[in-house]
Amino acid sequence: MTVTLPHLRELKLSGTPIVMVTAYDLPTARIVDSAGVDLVLVGDSAANTVLGHDPISTVRATVDELLILTRAVSRGCEHAMVIGDLPFMSYQVSDEDAVRNAGRFVKDAGADVVKLEGSGTSIARAAAIVAAGIPVMGHIGLTPQTATKLGGHKAQGREWHHAKRLYDDAVALEAAGCFGIVLECVPEAVAAAISKRLTIPTIGIGSGAGTDGQVLVLHDLLDMHGADSFQPKFVKRFAHIGDAMREGVKAYADEVRGGTFPGPEHVFAIAPEELSAFQTAVEAGSADDNILADW
Ligand code: KIV
Repeated sequence: MTVTLPHLRELKLSGTPIVMVTAYDLPTARIVDSAGVDLVLVGDSAANTVLGHDPISTVRATVDELLILTRAVSRGCEHAMVIGDLPFMSYQVSDEDAVRNAGRFVKDAGADVVKLEGSGTSIARAAAIVAAGIPVMGHIGLTPQTATKLGGHKAQGREWHHAKRLYDDAVALEAAGCFGIVLECVPEAVAAAISKRLTIPTIGIGSGAGTDGQVLVLHDLLDMHGADSFQPKFVKRFAHIGDAMREGVKAYADEVRGGTFPGPEHVFAIAPEELSAFQTAVEAGSADDNILADW
């Protein structure tokens, strides 16, 4: 990892936008890392993107599943900071649980830091994890793990008192020691005000251009979902990898069925004398065949 916490602060101070994206496996980790992003989140969005638990909800992702994915991603990142995402119910019950699970993401899976959602008790959990020596990123606004409680996946902080609560929560998470905060689906002006107030970087998703950085789910920005998928308002498709993959696999299937793959350039040769000795041996029956024949 060459991206450090002081470096993130410097990016905020200099007004250089921070780039964060999700990844869930080794090849995509290598690709996003070599593309030069600053932060790679092994999000619990894996529940939707790669694990197939549910098209929208993240609540079913487990610690064990995310540890496997985080391990693969951390092996693929040389430059970016890797964020392990604490899944639902891995930190809600107690500080002890939160610290133990955060420790697994860092010690067993190679994450550099962890992220957790919410305010309320999550503020104390963040402080406990930080006190144990693990940097924590907060996440407020639309918090997908508690979307049911929020009344669905919808923008948060659109009434002044709710916006003020988000503002106060962000300040409290900073005071608890968080090194950064994700602001999800918060009105642009509110996200900008929070970003201006904090000394730590904010990373927005669906929260406009006034945050210190942006995050998108890789499968959303590359349009990589296997089938037609819902496109949230804040997602921009920067490529159409799903279509490219489908076309590639169709071309492969067509060539296998049409007998044009593999071609002569894809095969290994055997020297004529070796081939002829092999054929003679096959015709004579091998020593092993003779042993089997004795049986
Ligand atoms: O799990 C995830 O991918 C996230 C991002 C959307 C911030 O939490």
